[in-house]
Amino acid sequence: MTLTPIITEFWDDPTLYTLDGYKSHGGYRALASALKQDPDAIITTIKDSGLRGRGGAGFPTGLKWSFVPQNDGKPHYLVVNADESEPGACKDIPIMMANPHALVEGVIISSFAIRANHAFIYIRGEVPEAIRRVANAIEQARAAGLIGKNILGSGFDLEVVAHSGAGAYICGEETALLDSLEGFRGQPRLKPPFPAVAGLYASPTVINNVETIANIPYIVDRGVDWFRQFGTEKSPGFKVFAVSGHVNRPGIYEAPLGITMRELLDYAGGMRDAMQESAYPVHDTIMEGLAPQTALLARFEELSAAMGAPGADLDALLGPRLAAGGTWPAVRTLGLRNGQPHFRQRPAAHGLHHRAPRSLRRQPPGPAALPAALQRQLPQ
Ligand SMILES: Cc1cc2nc3c(=O)[nH]c(=O)nc-3n(C[C@H](O)[C@H](O)[C@H](O)COP(=O)(O)O)c2cc1C
Repeated sequence: MTLTPIITEFWDDPTLYTLDGYKSHGGYRALASALKQDPDAIITTIKDSGLRGRGGAGFPTGLKWSFVPQNDGKPHYLVVNADESEPGACKDIPIMMANPHALVEGVIISSFAIRANHAFIYIRGEVPEAIRRVANAIEQARAAGLIGKNILGSGFDLEVVAHSGAGAYICGEETALLDSLEGFRGQPRLKPPFPAVAGLYASPTVINNVETIANIPYIVDRGVDWFRQFGTEKSPGFKVFAVSGHVNRPGIYEAPLGITMRELLDYAGGMRDAMQESAYPVHDTIMEGLAPQTALLARFEELSAAMGAPGADLDALLGPRLAAGGTWPAVRTLGLRNGQPHFRQRPAAHGLHHRAPRSLRRQPPGPAALPAALQRQLPQ
């Protein structure tokens, strides 16, 4: 399967992060066409595209947008989750650094679709460069009349704020993020109510990942059929994968969903120092150190099913399964998480707090057996 650079296509253009650089590659064309459409038509386009959230759970984006009640007289909000703190995850920050206007254009189109006049981009506080880069892109867009009052003469008003997080991993969880954005200590909220009904300031709110929103201009500009030519039936499109660990060419690879871990590892030059070829997908990261499973397809539905809880967040569910297998990367990952208030999320749902660390520390480093639930998902 060949790589499909779309969001990453012009990353070698040193001017891409500027408004002019982005526009020279067709940037903000999608916004002009979106503002001439009915907002519901854009929601339908995103639904038809089959785009699934790139923040971990893979929830269908258009469907999420359609949950926002219309004509309810309340303010609506768009919140972009740019908290990327998962150990090893490294795709949202590069997107914001290299192609911030794709995110900003996506924010404007998405806000228009869900009828939000305020959008917040909640950015991991430890990365001031990314906050500055996005804040600059917002200011450039505002100066060009793409943010503010009566955008491009459409009558649509939008304010966009780049907000700095305060360094807690749990604030990547969407409801904790909302608490943090409101000025409270980030603690997950019980659901229901879901944010689409009662989110930021108890008003209807859509929360989407950076990469999800950065996909929007490309889909609106190039169409549903174009998007669906990539990926699989249930996971259409392409994905930015961060490949790290003991590989020869660690880095960022944009590829169609459905690519195998084997192929991604090959693109990354294989394992370093003749280490055992093994990999495991954790969120957007491929981790070295587990039993061979490189035939595993990178598809949301397959990964979710393998973890036994379709639609649930992958990284949260991987922990206990990995604990059963006993792997050193998992030990390190959970160790890192233990330093963070990650486990403040509903404890009963995952039970990691009590179980994982002690059992994991007893395991020696080295390859481990693939969890049975995941074995069953592998192509035979
Ligand atoms: C502990 C925890 C941390 C999370 N961290 C992030 C994160 O850093 N970025 C992100 O986009 N989603 C993160 N999520 C998932 C979000 O709760 C949410 O599902 C996501 O932002 C929705 O966006 P999407 O539909 O575009 O994927 C996290 C979830 C949990 C439980």
